Amino acid sequence: MTTIVVIDDTQSILQLVSLYLKAAGYQVLTAADGAQGLRVVQENHPDLIITDVMMPGMDGYELTRRLRRDPLTTRTPILTLTAHSQLESKIKAFEAGADDFMTKPFDAGELVARVNVLLRRAAVVSPGVESAAEGREAAPVQRGQVMAVHSLRGGVGCSSLAVNLALGLAGLWDERVLLADFVTTTGQLALMLNLPLKRTWADIMHIPVAELALDELEAILAPHASGVRVLMAPTDPTQSANMTGERAGKMLELLRAQYGYVIADVTHDFNDIALQVLDAADRILLTLAPDLASIRAAAATLETYAQLGYPKEKITVGLNWTFGQQGFARQEIEEALAMPLSFVMPYAPLVFVSAINRGMPPVFEKPEEPVAAYLEDLAFLLSRPEARAAPPTNPKPGWRRVQKRIALAARK
Ligand SMILES: Nc1ncnc2c1ncn2[C@@H]1O[C@H](COP(=O)(O)OP(=O)(O)O)[C@@H](O)[C@H]1O
Ligand SMILES: [Mg+2]
Repeated sequence: MTTIVVIDDTQSILQLVSLYLKAAGYQVLTAADGAQGLRVVQENHPDLIITDVMMPGMDGYELTRRLRRDPLTTRTPILTLTAHSQLESKIKAFEAGADDFMTKPFDAGELVARVNVLLRRAAVVSPGVESAAEGREAAPVQRGQVMAVHSLRGGVGCSSLAVNLALGLAGLWDERVLLADFVTTTGQLALMLNLPLKRTWADIMHIPVAELALDELEAILAPHASGVRVLMAPTDPTQSANMTGERAGKMLELLRAQYGYVIADVTHDFNDIALQVLDAADRILLTLAPDLASIRAAAATLETYAQLGYPKEKITVGLNWTFGQQGFARQEIEEALAMPLSFVMPYAPLVFVSAINRGMPPVFEKPEEPVAAYLEDLAFLLSRPEARAAPPTNPKPGWRRVQKRIALAARK
C-alpha cells in the first residue's frame, strides 16, 4: 500500500489531510513537528512526504534539506504545504528540494490530484518501472490511435466533443471506432447517445485485471447506429468504487489493438484512472471555455502535463464557446496559455440542448448544421495523417462532405 507521511504542527490540518488521503486509498502517518517527522520517515520509508513550512524547531525548509541529504529519501516526492502564497516561499521550498507546493487553504480534490501526479512521476523515473515499460513496447501489438478528451474544469464540453468526434471519425473512415467512458459517476455518454445502460465496465469488475480478455470486453460494448461501439460507465458510484487505473489501462491496451480509433472521456481531474488513460493516449484534447476559471484550470493542467513529461506534440488545446458572450478573445487565451489553440468551437446552444435531450449528437443527426460540420472537419483534422493524405477506396458521405468544404475554402 502506498504510504504518505504528513508533517504539520496544526492538529486540524493533520486530521483534514489524513482524511482526504485515506479516502483516496492511501495509508497515512502523521507527525507534529520536523524532528518527529524525520523519525517517522526513517522508520516507515513512505512513498511521499507532505510537510508544513512554519513549525516550531525545525521548519519545513530545513526538514526538506535534511530529507534530500539522506540517500534513503533523496528521491522521495515532497509536497510543501504552507500558509504563504508568495513566490518567495515557493522558490525557497523548491530550492530546499521540494517537488511541489500548495498554499493553505487548499482544495481536497487538488491535493489528491497533486499527490497522484507526484507519485506517478516518481514511478516513471524509477528504473524498475522504466524497464517494464520498455518490455511492453517491444511486443508487436497493433496500436489504434487513442485520443483522450480532458479538462480540470467540467462543463466545458469534453463529453460533447468525445461523442461527436467518435461519430465523426466513424462517418469518415472504414475503421472500427470505440468511444470509451472512463468517467466514474455519470454514465453521460450513454445518455448523449440514447443508449440503454445495459452493460457497463462494472459488469466485468469481478475478473482480475491480469485475466481480463478481449472477449469479455467486447461482450459489454454497446453498438450505436453510427457503427461506433461504446464502452459505457456505470451511473452508480458504488459500482465503480473498485475501478482502478491499472484496470482502465488494461482495458485500453486490449481494445486499442482492435480499433482504429479510441476516443476516451475522462474525469475532470488527475485521478488514477484519468492518469492511466492520459498516459496511454497518443493525443490529449485539452478543452476549455473562454472564462477565467476555465483558462486558469487549463494553465494548471498544461503545467501538470509538463511535469508528467508529456511531449508538447501530444497535446492539442481547443476552445469551446459553451456560452455566448463576454468570453476572453482567442488571442488573449493563447497568450495566457503560451500555447496556440488548435480549434475554436462555436457557441451553438440550440443544437446542443436538442442533441442531449434526444440523445442524437449533431454530427450524426444534422451533419449540415454549421457546428456539426465544424466537428466533422475537426474529426478529419485529428485523423491519422496517412489516412488524410489519400482518398479512401470507397469514400463515405462524411468524407465527401469534408472534401467539399475543403475545396470551397480553398476557392475563397
Ligand atoms: N459549443 C457549445 N455551444 C453550446 N453549448 C455547448 C457547447 N458545447 C457544449 N455545450 C453544452 O455544455 C454543457 C456541458 O457539456 P459537456 O460535454 O457535458 O461538458 P463536460 O464533459 O466538459 O462536463 C452541455 O449541456 C452541452 O450541451
Ligand atoms: Mg463530461
